Amino acid sequence: MEEKKPSTADILAKIRAQKAAAAAAPVETPASVSETPATVAASESAPTAAAPPPASPTPAAVPGPKPSSTKDILAAIRAGGAKPAAAPVVNTPAAASAATVASTTSAAPTSAALGPKLSPQEMLQKMREAKGSAPPAAAPAAAVTKTTTPVAAPPMPAKPLPAGKAAKPAAVRRGMASFATVATVSALFLTLGYLLGNSFLIAVGALAWGALLTPFMAAWAAVAGISGIWTLGVARFMFPNVLVEPPSKFKVGPLSDYPLNTVSNKWKDQFGIWVVHTDQYEGRNMIFALASVCTHLGCTPNWLDGEQKFKCPCHGSGFYMTGINFEGPAPRPLERMGLRIAEDGMLEVNKSVKFQEEMGQWTDTTSYVEVV
Ligand code: FES
Repeated sequence: MEEKKPSTADILAKIRAQKAAAAAAPVETPASVSETPATVAASESAPTAAAPPPASPTPAAVPGPKPSSTKDILAAIRAGGAKPAAAPVVNTPAAASAATVASTTSAAPTSAALGPKLSPQEMLQKMREAKGSAPPAAAPAAAVTKTTTPVAAPPMPAKPLPAGKAAKPAAVRRGMASFATVATVSALFLTLGYLLGNSFLIAVGALAWGALLTPFMAAWAAVAGISGIWTLGVARFMFPNVLVEPPSKFKVGPLSDYPLNTVSNKWKDQFGIWVVHTDQYEGRNMIFALASVCTHLGCTPNWLDGEQKFKCPCHGSGFYMTGINFEGPAPRPLERMGLRIAEDGMLEVNKSVKFQEEMGQWTDTTSYVEVV
């Protein structure tokens, strides 16, 4: 026959009886606790012979002490909750004591009877195993084998720049390099143009600067350029003035290059002289060099081969092949330059000396070369 499940009132009464017994009697030894529930139940079911009969009936339920805590209540429920025997009504102190012993033995399996305290995971695992649906226990961490796939190494990070310096893009670096190149070239043109007095070079340098710079940079470039010109101008005073002129002595070739009664314009533009080979001056066959400077006001006459004369374009002065003036305002003949035959047989002109006919200097043998 199935036993009746204890009610809450029964449980509370039982707990109170346990509390009262625990307060009145010494603590049960482990040996006494080791009584089997069957034995205890037997003792509960039949009153002991030594137990005196109750002197007077007491109320059915003797109110005992209240449970000390919820933990105790839960421990008692677990101890007898499965299939607890129906607790008889205890009316006498002896019976209460026996009941106390029985309840103590039945309530004993607290923590010791339940075994070591389990964690929630372990409890869940045991429940699954009991149901037969427990998954296999987790393998030890050391036994877990992972399938590893090769992972590509990440790229090396860029080398950090010093504090306060930001990395410049490549486009910016290229732009700066181009700017520096053009600026250098234009500065070179400006410097050469200034030193050589060549306006073309100066203009090229200025145009390069103008095409290169933004207005802000152009303003600073102008300041820098002016400062540079001032610096060059000051530095120029450190060097002496040197007059760059063609050499005063130069060779004009052999005698055979100048036929008789001819005027050569070959050296007029370069050295400002004519080489004349004639026999019209005093009937002597000679070669001499005439300066291409009009004796009036210094213009440059032209040799007119058709008219066989020198004609000045400024005021119309005319000179014969020999250099003697015969028309116009020119007051005197053209001037001769020094001439001689060099060691190598070439005619050599010396512009550092001049010979004037009105001064009687044409008779000087260094003013001509006689051809024999
Ligand atoms: Fe030659 Fe006056 S300069 S004629």
